[in-house]
Amino acid sequence: MIRYRNAFALALCALTLAAAGWAVRQGKAAPQTDDAALARGKEIYDARCKACHRSDGKGTLEEMDLTDNVWKNGNKPEDIEKVIREGVKGTGMRPITGDYTDADIKALVKYVLKFSADAPPPAAEPTKPPEAR
Ligand code: HEC
Repeated sequence: MIRYRNAFALALCALTLAAAGWAVRQGKAAPQTDDAALARGKEIYDARCKACHRSDGKGTLEEMDLTDNVWKNGNKPEDIEKVIREGVKGTGMRPITGDYTDADIKALVKYVLKFSADAPPPAAEPTKPPEAR
């Protein structure tokens, strides 16, 4: 009887270990966590983008403002990625240089979009000039 129960406990143990192992493997295969991606994005931003867009994303010119939720070239992740990879023709926004992986670019996109995460949507911005007094 006791031996029987031990065998059961052993089996349970083995099952738990197998499940834990599976979970760890899943974790490894899963994409980077948000925090890791944002940290990597910041690293690239600081190296490649900060000179023009400033560390707060406000940019040195209005069209460089990444915080205002006003997007000339779109704000879908694909749009941002395109701007980063190809630049904006005829402007100071040049294609990114350097040896970055797809994951790096995705991390950078995530970081760029974070600047405007708290901004109101464009429609909520005042469209009328301030009333004359
Ligand atoms: C030499 C200066 C310069 C650097 C460096 C630079 N940018 Fe830009 N960026 C600009 C300018 C100027 C514009 C505005 C282009 C326009 O008028 O459409 C712009 C536009 C953008 C836009 C589009 C904004 C919109 O309204 O659609 C994004 C996104 C962007 N930059 C991201 C980045 C990222 C990410 C990096 C780093 C990899 C970077 N930029 C590096 C100058 C720069």
